[in-house]
Amino acid sequence: DTDRFLLKLKGYYFDRLSVDIGFIENLDDFEIREDDVFIVTYPKSGTIWLQQLLSLIYFEEHREGTGKLETVTRVPFFEYNFQKIDFGKRPSPRLFSTHLSYYLVPRGLKNKRAKIIYVYRNPKDVMCSNFHFEKNVKLQFTSTFEAFMKLFLEGRVLGSLWFDHIKGWYEHRSLFNIQFMTYEEMKQDLRGSVLKICKFLGKELSEEDMDTVVRQATFENMKYDPLANYDKIITTAYGTNVKGHFLRKGTIGDWKSHMTVEQNESFDKIFQREMKDFPLKFIWD
Ligand code: PPS
Repeated sequence: DTDRFLLKLKGYYFDRLSVDIGFIENLDDFEIREDDVFIVTYPKSGTIWLQQLLSLIYFEEHREGTGKLETVTRVPFFEYNFQKIDFGKRPSPRLFSTHLSYYLVPRGLKNKRAKIIYVYRNPKDVMCSNFHFEKNVKLQFTSTFEAFMKLFLEGRVLGSLWFDHIKGWYEHRSLFNIQFMTYEEMKQDLRGSVLKICKFLGKELSEEDMDTVVRQATFENMKYDPLANYDKIITTAYGTNVKGHFLRKGTIGDWKSHMTVEQNESFDKIFQREMKDFPLKFIWD
């Protein structure tokens, strides 16, 4: 029953309620700057975590008082411009996040202008996180986990088919200036991950600043930080009946408490078929 909340444009499922069709139609020509940074994720793979990290790494509080703004305003969603920001007027360096497939992004990105950090997460956890979000936050999905798994594996969900998203970005990586990271490595070694991100971005942080970034980007801190936890946005977008949060559990392997042995086997079968020759490794627990 998610179909009526989705809109297929250019072969990809967008959120019907928040997508700006005109913007999507003209995406190819969107002007990219050399120092733009894009977070690219399939939904529920660590987007708001990276938004928080980038905004801390860039010390946004020094830029026009942005320290008091919600993370989503500092690192806005590209295709879901909730705050109606005039991107052309943003000061550089602009930080964006997007769920777009590789073939939909502006031409400038494909010419290796700007930097992209692609974060991926094991798809069983992605699916479970998504299930809770659709059910308890967006309140748009009312059926069973089994039914959601079917939709997820058919790609009839926000972001379309997970397999297409990751394979598309990976197979076309030579077009982009792109760094691949996993949600799980961030979870296992946040400090090491921040160092990796900084190296890619050409940023050098003092030990003290590094400590601050790491401290403020932990799950526990973000959960209770009103600028980072998205609770306000949720109630604005989906109403006050909402039962869930973006910062739900934040763990590796939560799929084990959702999937039956049978569901897991059928998922594995499809995963093995789809990802046969795919070289990146996944951390499942
Ligand atoms: S969205 O809707 O695509 O923007 O969602 P996204 O931010 O990609 O994914 C939400 C999941 O990321 C978890 N999260 C974190 N985990 C660990 N540490 C930190 N700091 C953190 N921040 C966000 C969040 O809890 C969601 O995962 P689940 O499994 O549902 O808890």
